[in-house]
Amino acid sequence: MPTIKVRQNGPYLVDVGADVTLVDWNGQEYAIPKRPFTLCRCGASTNKPFCDGTHSKVGFAAAEAAVPGAGDKPAGT
Ligand code: FES
Repeated sequence: MPTIKVRQNGPYLVDVGADVTLVDWNGQEYAIPKRPFTLCRCGASTNKPFCDGTHSKVGFAAAEAAVPGAGDKPAGT
């Protein structure tokens, strides 16, 4: 099943197969280096819109979960 996973204190993990394109505000396609891929959620990536791992260096912390307080899992799971 195609899935976009919000990673705890990290990026959006886009695991939707080959049938997805990522376009900018002009409709121009980004080259997707690998699949699945991750999109920056913290705003600190130097490779936007992709995540480059900087979120861990800047201490990005996101509080939202689909069900607030529903048993957080360790980051990366
Ligand atoms: S979420 Fe990874 S660099 Fe922003």
